Amino acid sequence: MLRFGIIGTGRIGDMHARLVALQPDASVTWCFDVYEESAGATAAAVGARATTDLDALLGAEDVDAVLIASPTNTHVEMILRSAEAGKPILCEKPIDVNIDKVEECKEKLRAFDVPLQLGFNRRFDPSHAGVQQAVARGDLGDLELLIITSRDPGPPPPRPILEACGGLFRDTTIHDMDMARFVMGEDPVEVFTMAANRVDPVFAELNDVDTAMVVMRGASGALCHINNSRRTNYGYDQRVEAFGAQGMVRSNNQRPSEVSRYGAGGTATRDELLYFFIERYRAAYEAEIRDFIDQVTAGKPPNVTFEDGRRALLLSEAALKSYEINKPVEVDYT
Ligand SMILES: NC(=O)c1ccc[n+]([C@@H]2O[C@H](COP(=O)([O-])OP(=O)(O)OC[C@H]3O[C@@H](n4cnc5c(N)ncnc54)[C@H](O)[C@@H]3O)[C@@H](O)[C@H]2O)c1
Repeated sequence: MLRFGIIGTGRIGDMHARLVALQPDASVTWCFDVYEESAGATAAAVGARATTDLDALLGAEDVDAVLIASPTNTHVEMILRSAEAGKPILCEKPIDVNIDKVEECKEKLRAFDVPLQLGFNRRFDPSHAGVQQAVARGDLGDLELLIITSRDPGPPPPRPILEACGGLFRDTTIHDMDMARFVMGEDPVEVFTMAANRVDPVFAELNDVDTAMVVMRGASGALCHINNSRRTNYGYDQRVEAFGAQGMVRSNNQRPSEVSRYGAGGTATRDELLYFFIERYRAAYEAEIRDFIDQVTAGKPPNVTFEDGRRALLLSEAALKSYEINKPVEVDYT
C-alpha cells in the first residue's frame, strides 16, 4: 500500500487525491493546503487527515510519497522539501516558469536519491499514446509531419490564474512541447512562432498572447506544428496527427458518447466534446498515477522525468523568444 500526502488541494489536487483513493494499492493519508477549508474538503472525501502545516505531512510516518499540486510558483520549494524528507514525488507541470529556478533545482536535487515523476499526463492518454506507439513501431515509415492541436474551451480562466501561470507558452504550450518530444522520439532543435491576441483583451493587458502557431524541426528533419487557442466555443479541442510515407495516424477528440442523431436539425449530429482537462484526460490522470505507484513500488525510475520537464520548458522559452524576435530560434539543451 503506497500512502500519499497531497500538497495543494485545488482543482487538480482534489482530482488527483480522489483518483489515488480509487487505487486498490494506494491511499491518501494527509492533505496539505494553505487554506484549511480546501485541505479539509479533500481530506474528508478521501478519508485523510487535513493540515495547513507542511512539516506535519512531510514528517508523518504514514506518508510514503507526495503528490505536488500547489501553484506553479511553489513547486521548486515543495520538490526540495519533499526530497529532503526522502519522499518519492509526483509533481504537476511545469516545474517552474523560471528556467534559472529549474536549473538551480536540478543542481540541488543531485544531493537526494528520490524518484521524481513530472505530471505530463497527456503521455498517458490511450489515444495520444497510440499515436506515439505507431510512430515508434515505424508504422508510418519515417515521421515527416506531426500536428498538435490544443485549444482550451472558453471563456478564459480568471485573471489571478492567468497572472500566476507564466503565460501561454510556459503554462499550456508546455504540454504540447512534451507531446512533440514524446511522439517525435527526439528533441526539436529549431522553433519558430507566430502568435496573436484574438480572444480576450485580458491577455494583452498581461503582456501575454492567446493564439499561437509554433513550427519546430527535429534533427531527423521531421517537422512539428502546434496550434493553440485559449478559447473554443465547442469544448476542449485536443488532437494529435502524425504523418509519414506509409500513412497517417490520428488521435481524435472525445465525447461523452458515440451516439449520432439524424433529423431536420442536422445530419449525424453528436454530443459536444468533453469540456476540459478534468473530463477529457481522466483516464490519462489515472494511468499517470498508476504508473507512478507501479514504478515506485517496484523500485524503478519514473517514466516521465524532471529532465522531461526541463526540456519542455526550454522549448516553451524558445517559442516565446521566437515570437518576441520574430525569427527561428535554435534550442540548446545543455
Ligand atoms: N496536468 C494538468 O493537466 C494540469 C491541469 C491544471 C493544473 N495543473 C497544474 O497544477 C497546479 C495547480 O493548479 P490548479 O489549477 O489546481 O490550481 P488551483 O489554484 O485550483 O489550486 C491550487 C491550490 O494550492 C493551494 N495553495 C496556494 N498556495 C499554496 C502553498 N504555498 N502551498 C500549498 N498549497 C497552496 C491553493 O489554496 C489551492 O487550493 C499548477 O502548477 C498547474 O500548472 C496541471
